[in-house]
Amino acid sequence: MNEQSYWQERYDENRTGWDLGKISEPLKEYFDQLTDKSVRILIPGAGNAYEAEYLWNKGFKNVFVLDIAATPLENLKKRIPDFPKEQLIAQDFFKHKDTYDLIIEQTFFCSFPPVKMNRTKYATKMAALLSERGKLVGVFFDIPLTDDVEKRPFGGSLREYRTYFQPYFNLHVFEPCHNSMADRMDQEIFAILQKKKPVSKQSNNPLHGITLKSMLEELILHQGWEKMADACRINCFYSNPTLKSSLTFLRKHDWAREKVEKYYLRVRNKM
Ligand SMILES: C[S@@+](CC[C@H](N)C(=O)[O-])C[C@H]1O[C@@H](n2cnc3c(N)ncnc32)[C@H](O)[C@@H]1O
Repeated sequence: MNEQSYWQERYDENRTGWDLGKISEPLKEYFDQLTDKSVRILIPGAGNAYEAEYLWNKGFKNVFVLDIAATPLENLKKRIPDFPKEQLIAQDFFKHKDTYDLIIEQTFFCSFPPVKMNRTKYATKMAALLSERGKLVGVFFDIPLTDDVEKRPFGGSLREYRTYFQPYFNLHVFEPCHNSMADRMDQEIFAILQKKKPVSKQSNNPLHGITLKSMLEELILHQGWEKMADACRINCFYSNPTLKSSLTFLRKHDWAREKVEKYYLRVRNKM
């Protein structure tokens, strides 16, 4: 089942345990201190988008709501009939292209299978959608990550999250949340992450911040040696391949490393 059908089915079957039925307190408190009502705000994976409704009613008119499932967008339109149609975006977040000053996170990050590749892709996409010095603000779950890949929300820790965001963002606030809703108390991190100013050509490099070792680990996990060998045609992936021997080989041979990097980017772009 593809992502779109998966999420649509969850709405069709009313399996929306994440839905608070109202704006979450940490975001409400953050919105209440915003003064510039002209900012362009994106809420991706917005679900029923109580945050958008709150902002709209407060006079923020440049609010864009994006979700891969149609139902929650229709629900918002019913609640706010004059919400502009072009600000309701039914699309895969990773295919979306535009620029925003502020992007809001809530139970979106934790909905993707918790592998490094997805989390890195999320961080780079967020940075790509933000204007210079734009901000990603919201809450992330601070709960242990289990091996159960069916069990959302997928957790993580502050230390792990830092590794994804630090290459692209200044972490102004990234700490335990003090005003979570009762059933999420002590399980959330509040984040105000500001996009870093590009300092060099490096920051445009899609592989910036990703080590050869983590690239190989991701490929081994998701593709496996056989596919890697077929795609790259490098000897060290064929006979008794190990992470250690492949790393040693690739570190010595630039041509081979380049093949693997290109393959990694192709795989990542398909996900
Ligand atoms: C766990 S729900 C959270 C909804 C909302 N943020 C909330 O807290 O109530 C995740 C939402 O992300 C949407 N979603 C999942 N993958 C997506 C993608 N690739 N692009 C856009 N939306 C996506 C789902 O349809 C769902 O509405």
